[in-house]
Amino acid sequence: MSEQYIYPVKPEIARHAHITEALYQADYQRSINDPEGFWAEQAQRFLHWRAPWHTVLDYDYPSAYIKWFQGGRLNVSENCLDRHLADKGDQLAIIWEGDDPNQQRRVTYKQLHAEVCRFANALKAQGVGKGDHVCIYLPMIPEAAVAMLACTRIGAVHSVVFAGFSAEALKDRILDANCHYLICSDEGFRGGKTIPIKATVDKAAEQCPGLSKIIVVQRSGNPVNWQPGRDMWYHELLAIADTESEPEAMDAEDPLFILYTSGSTGKPKGVQHTTGGYLLYAAMTHKYIFDYQPGEIYWCTADVGWITGHSYVLYGPLCNGATTLMFEGVPTYPAADRCWQIVDKYQVNIFYTAPTAIRALMAQGDDFVASSDRSSLRILGSVGEPINSEAWEWYYHVVGQTRCPIVDTWWQTETGGILITPLPGATELKPGSATRPFFGAKPEILDAQGQVLTGVAEGVLTLSFPWPGQARTVYGDHQRFIDTYFKAYPGYYFTGDGARRDEDGYFWITGRVDDVINVSGHRLGTAEIESALDLHEHVAESAVVGYPHDIKGQGIYAYVTLIVGTVPSEELKRELIAHVRAEIGAIAAPDRIQFAQALPKTRSGKIMRRILRKVAANELDTLGDTTTLADPAVVDDIIANRLNR
Ligand code: WT7
Repeated sequence: MSEQYIYPVKPEIARHAHITEALYQADYQRSINDPEGFWAEQAQRFLHWRAPWHTVLDYDYPSAYIKWFQGGRLNVSENCLDRHLADKGDQLAIIWEGDDPNQQRRVTYKQLHAEVCRFANALKAQGVGKGDHVCIYLPMIPEAAVAMLACTRIGAVHSVVFAGFSAEALKDRILDANCHYLICSDEGFRGGKTIPIKATVDKAAEQCPGLSKIIVVQRSGNPVNWQPGRDMWYHELLAIADTESEPEAMDAEDPLFILYTSGSTGKPKGVQHTTGGYLLYAAMTHKYIFDYQPGEIYWCTADVGWITGHSYVLYGPLCNGATTLMFEGVPTYPAADRCWQIVDKYQVNIFYTAPTAIRALMAQGDDFVASSDRSSLRILGSVGEPINSEAWEWYYHVVGQTRCPIVDTWWQTETGGILITPLPGATELKPGSATRPFFGAKPEILDAQGQVLTGVAEGVLTLSFPWPGQARTVYGDHQRFIDTYFKAYPGYYFTGDGARRDEDGYFWITGRVDDVINVSGHRLGTAEIESALDLHEHVAESAVVGYPHDIKGQGIYAYVTLIVGTVPSEELKRELIAHVRAEIGAIAAPDRIQFAQALPKTRSGKIMRRILRKVAANELDTLGDTTTLADPAVVDDIIANRLNR
């Protein structure tokens, strides 16, 4: 661990930065000592309110009751669009770069506002009203931004589903959120491949009787199946829609969106964020953590189907009047220099991506980077999983030419925005450390008994005080929200992550402490993959664990026992992988499948995952105690047939 080397703050960055070290120290203290005063001031500074709040914060962690800015009224699309029209109407809001390097679109604030207003009216004309749930299943095209913002304009709640999820996974999310409306495209393009979006929606819709309207954006123009009465073209609705749209004044605590994420048990949960606190937190973190300066071109590579896309492609940047770049494709198409070509093409100043992408590009060699200029880059960001020091150093030296601070930002779908991170003009960097808390964040490290550890310590990562961007509930299941995040350590929000604090008070995220794995920056529950496998007719039982993977961070390792009489084969493995893809999506496809005679269990029948994780990681010396197993011989079979050596 290269904990020793510290990268000092760059004077040329600090000189013009929004936040310097002195300011960080002062404001951080204030945010902790007087959170209500601090956040009230920020809410005035960052947002336009239709009506003032009467209570800044009211909360009770044991019942997971969290309210910010109650009584305050505002509209998200008004904050992201209307208020920029006077001075930034002709500035670019979105730069869109297609999967095909010859396709791009530039959308000004004026144009985006006009299209959002019309689409908001189109939605209304179709019967969508305040509080209705709208599912969005779109590729990375500007219409995804329009659809999300149009929902917020009329007070509808969007549930964006990543367009890489299967029909089955989409169906689950449509049903769980009780969506009557869905917005999709005919097809999508990614890495030169055509993605059958509408066909997937059609399949999901067969099992969603409540889904009555489907609005389709024309992206490829290829023919798609059509159900008259239910299916409508986006462009046809826009053509007849009114252009004037009065933004709905929403309560600060009205729901803004639902976004599904995986947990250690059960089906993915619909994390619910609300209007005022979320928008404030997304905007403020975007401005300070990326040190966004007026006129800069900012690019976050995340898909809008994830929280990073919500907060840092769309809401944070647009609320700040920034120019945000939206990329339809993948970093390696047509070649591994694609990101740097885009950086040069649009003179990108701030670039935010995931360690898995950095490692994948690093593996392709430096020549792909060296062929570009990149002198426009000023700040680099990382998110989604711990960044190993080799990848950090490569990002810093090769991509950033030692000129750009790297902000390693730790957060979660549930946190709405970044909580632990460096600030470019304030924080000395240690490769691999997410460093220090953002304003208002009170991280605490606890031991397994729930005791607060002080000083240098390692344990579970919790937060002892609310922040405005915090999720408010799990849609339709508040008890699950309480049980997952507020029960294990009463009085704290439990993150599911482990962390270490070093002698400088810097935080090092050590990874999940639950049965959640992080594959290429995508969060997956091992239980979901197991239930997908278990549905297959030849599978008796399965256990899924993560193992260290050079590019993906973690790979998916599945141990499978077969129904008696089934012959194990390579073909069956391929069939099981295809089956998981169909049940969840390509991101959940196992990298390794090991057929086992039996799974190691305790005498009470609990699968001993610790052992399975060790075997998958090929760490046989540290298997630990196996004497409590019902049948220790099972482990010998598993070790003998292990796939990672
Ligand atoms: C989990 C949350 C929030 C953005 C994308 C992922 C891991 C996230 C970091 C980081 C170490 C990180 C954690 C966390 N994670 N960022 N900078 N360093 N780990 O959101 O899908 O909700 O996943 O991602 O394990 O709990 P998500």
